[in-house]
Amino acid sequence: MNTDTLINIHVPATSANLGPGFDSLGLALDIWNHIRVEARSSTAPGLRYRASGEGEDVLNQSSDNLLTRSMARLFESCGKEMPPALDIFAENNIPLASGLGSSAAAIVGGLAAANALLGNPLDGMGLLRLANDIEGHPDNVAPALLGGLVASACCSDEVISRRFDLPPLTIVIVKPEMDLPTKTARAVLPDSVSRQDAIFNIGRAVLVTEALRAGDLSLLARVMDDKLHQPYRLRHIPGGEAAYLAAKRCGAAALSGAGPSLIAFVEAADTQKVQDAMATAFAQSGIASRAFLTRPSARGVFVIK
Ligand code: HSE
Repeated sequence: MNTDTLINIHVPATSANLGPGFDSLGLALDIWNHIRVEARSSTAPGLRYRASGEGEDVLNQSSDNLLTRSMARLFESCGKEMPPALDIFAENNIPLASGLGSSAAAIVGGLAAANALLGNPLDGMGLLRLANDIEGHPDNVAPALLGGLVASACCSDEVISRRFDLPPLTIVIVKPEMDLPTKTARAVLPDSVSRQDAIFNIGRAVLVTEALRAGDLSLLARVMDDKLHQPYRLRHIPGGEAAYLAAKRCGAAALSGAGPSLIAFVEAADTQKVQDAMATAFAQSGIASRAFLTRPSARGVFVIK
């Protein structure tokens, strides 16, 4: 490795599940974290991390975080030592614990940085396998790596993923100002589900994939529904159920990942309407919210050296 190296990594937000595709479907969004990694022989030894933007207060308390641990994990899996002096600057636009893939962005950003520092010993499959090992499920990390809409399945120690290009859909995300860590949101789920609920989801997961791929908003609105996680999680989000139903009256809607954000796919003319409908529903439960207007990103993580 060159002792004076500067690497810039750009990694997108992602929305997982997309209604019925629990732990299987995910979509890259046009919201980005930017990470600069400097390995210089002239600076003092040590790992320094600084974040600005989303989550800066929490993240600036320590250099031990998911991004730096993911970097260390890749070095370790390649049998290499981390560089003795590393300065990392993150400009974060993905809110933490919001259902927009901030953890996946940290993991994929960290792995991409470490891989680039080592001259890219891991290919895309190797990165996906390691990212899935760290995250525990592939639905956010796969689109963060590959871009687009990605369907994934874990088969033994292999992650099989296929990505689909999407048309320029209009996406409105409303994030209530509360944190819902994925760990908490997974703890409220039942250990087993009925055959009826499984069947409800299987057909819809296939049809959601086709509706998104084709940009068929009318089909999407009819099939973007779920019985495996949303009903359990919405109960724990004040105003969540009302905001979800309000969004569905304007188009297709789902909990984004494990929540608490909601994602809506609407005609461009309905952007303000769906945003206001969700914000009003949260406000009626005393919860402030923030809206993000975005679109799918065809691009996943990329590195500029
Ligand atoms: N599929 C995951 C979940 C996404 O719903 O728990 C959040 O990490």
